[in-house]
Amino acid sequence: SIANSCATKTGVSGKPARPVREATKRSILMCRPTFFTVAYKINPWMDPEAGVDQTKALKQWQRLYDVYQELGFDVHLVDPLPGLPDMVYAANGGLVLGNVAYGAKFLHPERHAEGPAYMAWFRKHGLKVAEPRETNEGQGDFLPVGDVILAGTGFRTNPRSHQEVARVFDREVVTLKLVNPRYYHLDTALTVLDREPVDASSPCIAYLESAFDEESLAILRDRFPNAILATEEDAAVFAMNVYSDGYNVVIPSRAKTFGRQLREHGYNPISVDLSELLLGGGSIKCCTLDLHPELSTASRHIT
Ligand code: ARG
Repeated sequence: SIANSCATKTGVSGKPARPVREATKRSILMCRPTFFTVAYKINPWMDPEAGVDQTKALKQWQRLYDVYQELGFDVHLVDPLPGLPDMVYAANGGLVLGNVAYGAKFLHPERHAEGPAYMAWFRKHGLKVAEPRETNEGQGDFLPVGDVILAGTGFRTNPRSHQEVARVFDREVVTLKLVNPRYYHLDTALTVLDREPVDASSPCIAYLESAFDEESLAILRDRFPNAILATEEDAAVFAMNVYSDGYNVVIPSRAKTFGRQLREHGYNPISVDLSELLLGGGSIKCCTLDLHPELSTASRHIT
């Protein structure tokens, strides 16, 4: 499979030559944090007493938006809704592959209304929506890489939805179990650096080992032997919650080691500060829903 060629263990002798990395143009969906606040606590990062600086949150989010524009991405926006403070974390809005969007069905009642809101956007933009039966939080727990979909469970997404996704997209889904409540979504503990495999020596992904159970670690080590392993310190500032276009990787400015690790492997780290959004338990990737592949205006309309 393609994913396995990403993780090939054979044929690499000595120090592999640094691969030539290529940025690929991305199409993403974001949601302005107009109504962002921390009003309830559904993960260990959230403290409703702490107080959020909304102006700062908006400014930091705007910077991320601008960086994506500068990288030449196609950035789509979904309208934020009052009363849904977590809607800024667009990654949770669904899983899009080609012209099919598998909708989200949130675990916590505070976020239930986000599922239909995102599905309405997908429909309006010509995607075929697969209504979810099982609890799942979109790209928070589903990360496509090569021809497989890595899928997190343990806190939010029900493993039955992994089976549902395998059926909807007819792809192999690899279940990974999260064990640390601070890393409650897969995208807080693991990041995809190469959506499509580059060569056998490429890290392909980065992850925090302590966030997974032993069985999942064995799978990750087997499939991605060259993966970048994050430090605890970096993971705690959400260095795994980042977005890569295959060359440029947008990372939190507070990450200490990850930028150097990326550079060693030929990626180009770009620092952005989303500290205010971290008060809700999310960062760069959480604010970014990948549209796979590009959602071009007219051509994909299926009415
Ligand atoms: N407050 C949100 C929650 O706990 C944060 C979601 C972060 N998003 C993500 N893709 N990890 O649900």
